[in-house]
Formats: sequence, C-alpha cells, structure tokens
Amino acid sequence: MRVALAADHGGLELKNSIRSWLEKAGYSVEDFGVHTGESVDYPDYAKIVAEKVASGEFDRGILVCGTGIGMSIAANKVPGIRAALVHDVFSARATREHNDSNILCIGQRVVGEGHALAIVEAWLRTEFSGGRHSRRVEKIGAIESVYCCRSLEGSQSAD
Ligand code: RB5
Repeated sequence: MRVALAADHGGLELKNSIRSWLEKAGYSVEDFGVHTGESVDYPDYAKIVAEKVASGEFDRGILVCGTGIGMSIAANKVPGIRAALVHDVFSARATREHNDSNILCIGQRVVGEGHALAIVEAWLRTEFSGGRHSRRVEKIGAIESVYCCRSLEGSQSAD
C-alpha cells in the first residue's frame, strides 16, 4: 500500500513519528513535508496529499496539523476524497468500514504519539465493509458530482 503523508508546522513531530512507524511496518510512504518547524499554511499540504490520493498515485493519505480540522476541511474539497478526522481507535476502524475513508487526519495537539500510532495502525488495517455502506458512499459521490466539475481519478495534479 502506498501512503502519502504531510503535515503543517503544527503536526511536524507527529508526522515524523508516523513516517517512522509506517517505514518499520513495511508501508511504502512518501513524505511531502513539512520538514522544518517554520510556519506554513495547512491547505497547501492538504492539497498535495489529496491530489495524490484522488489521482490514484497513492492508495491512502495521512495529514497532520495542530487539530487535524483544517487538514480535513481542505482535503475534502478535492473530488474523490473522503478525509476523516479521527482521534480514537473505534472511529479509525469505523470510518474505514463504513465510509471507506481514503485520508486520515489527526491533530498533534489533541492526541499523544502512542495513541496516534494506534489510530494509524487500525485505520490502515481495516477494510471497507461494502454492502449497505457502498450505497451510502456512492451517495456522497453523487452530492459531490452535483457541486464539483471533475474528478482527478486517472489524471495528474490540478496545478
Ligand atoms: C496552526 O497553528 C493550526 O491552525 C493548524 O495546525 C491546524 O490546527 C488548523 O486546523
């Protein structure tokens, strides 16, 4: 599984811990920054990872900021993205089983490192349940198609 990873300055340390965990666990991971604590704008990093996932270049994305909220709001603007803001293991499993979420957002200022890594592990290892949940996820896509002009699937960045 190919995982695209990024953070703003508010999520730098947790993003680095997640990257180390992913590498040790054998995932193919690409870190799109940030690499220093300099203040940046989280939508710029949400956009990079969301486009990588929406285009199919990466299977999943993980975004970290101070709260995870800004990253999730921004990532969900990209067609095809179902970004879930998660701060507990139950929700990590549930959002994979029920929502087929393709991006996980976490807040470094909200959860401790160990808890965050448990959330990442649960989210990556849980499969979508399908069945009645497929119909609901399709309805999310139908709402999106009313308001969005195009999908990025099979294409490159929208830059
Ligand atoms: C940066 O201070 C902070 O606003 C950002 O990391 C995030 O929490 C936004 O939602």
